[in-house]
Amino acid sequence: MVEDEEKGEMVVTPWEVSGEIDYERLIEEFGTQPIDDQLLERIKKHTGELHPQLRRRIFFSHRDLDWILDMYEGGRSFVLYTGRGPSGPVHIGHLIPWIFTKHLQDVFGSKLYFQMTDDEKFLVKPELTLEKTNSLAYDNALDVIAVGFNPKKTKIIMDSESGGILYKLAIRIAKRITFSTIKAAFGLEESSNIGIIFFPAIQAVPCFIESHLEGENVPCLIPAAIDQDPYWRVTRDVAPKLGYYKPAQIHCKFLPGLGKGGKMSASMPETCIFTTDTPEEAKKKLWNAFTGGRPTAKEQRLHGGNPTICPIYHYYYYLFEPDDKRLEEIRWECRTGKTLCGECKLRLAERVGRFLTEHQKKREEARDKIEEYIFKIKD
Ligand code: TYM
Repeated sequence: MVEDEEKGEMVVTPWEVSGEIDYERLIEEFGTQPIDDQLLERIKKHTGELHPQLRRRIFFSHRDLDWILDMYEGGRSFVLYTGRGPSGPVHIGHLIPWIFTKHLQDVFGSKLYFQMTDDEKFLVKPELTLEKTNSLAYDNALDVIAVGFNPKKTKIIMDSESGGILYKLAIRIAKRITFSTIKAAFGLEESSNIGIIFFPAIQAVPCFIESHLEGENVPCLIPAAIDQDPYWRVTRDVAPKLGYYKPAQIHCKFLPGLGKGGKMSASMPETCIFTTDTPEEAKKKLWNAFTGGRPTAKEQRLHGGNPTICPIYHYYYYLFEPDDKRLEEIRWECRTGKTLCGECKLRLAERVGRFLTEHQKKREEARDKIEEYIFKIKD
């Protein structure tokens, strides 16, 4: 917990993100490192042109990414690890770290462990049964596969079905973590159920699965938004006590929702574009979005809009305009009042519609591939 939600200020936990997010302050308070120009240059040596999410500082913070590169340059491969808590349909914000993870898999040839925490969502959401979160896990896996991960190098771990290996590693991890550590990292209460107190040990497991299976230490890099960081702080503490490498992280910012401020969140469906929305539904939501525009067209033409606070502009920035030159034009046309919000929204809606149609096609094709991706080792 970073600040008190009731004051309307920043709150960033794995289960809640609200208020105005100050990413520089998060770097300080979470004790991570900014991704600086020097590190970007180093990454560029391996990736060729930098991925837009790095160029645009959407991935902005890390822990031990330089060490991962040291290892890689010394001839050691690393595994990637990311995941999803299946509590509902996937939205386009979730795709941000997954698209970047696929890029890393392509460039570095890494194996990926993708964890589906149907157990976590069952434990934290009183209204959800385990049957429901498990069926959502299979549904959400279609989105993961649709992103295009290499089936030969990607394993999706269905938590509630992976008992043996997951449980044996989790109890070894859990033995080294105290209740007070978990309470401090996650802000749990005396009244929290004991499942959720234990759960961080489960989310730690995939950091070490490859090392466990290989019988020797394998570095692990976790791409995710910064809300998941409390899990990694706890995991990094425990890793050396178990003889494992500390997992490294690369953190991204949040794709905002379509309202004023705050991240895209499924709990506010009208400000959230789900991957299963039809292009028409998405268009309607985009049309109703908050923008950085002026109250009247006349004022907008005269004074221009404010792209910095505008979710529509952010969607171009995060996902829908990869060309930096064209993005700058969109920004300039807004600032100078050359483009009005309606036109800007309609152009974006067209792109979002095309993206959704393509994604949904791949999502359907994924139904026949799902078995290939599921992690099967039980012990
Ligand atoms: P979950 O399902 O809340 O989120 C899945 C992933 O999406 C990121 N994310 C976002 N990224 C950009 N913009 C947004 N608006 C946005 N909202 C969510 C999250 O940071 C996450 O990377 N406990 C996890 C599941 C999990 C996991 C992991 C995630 C298990 N192991 C390892 C990352 C890495 C969860 O509930 O994620």
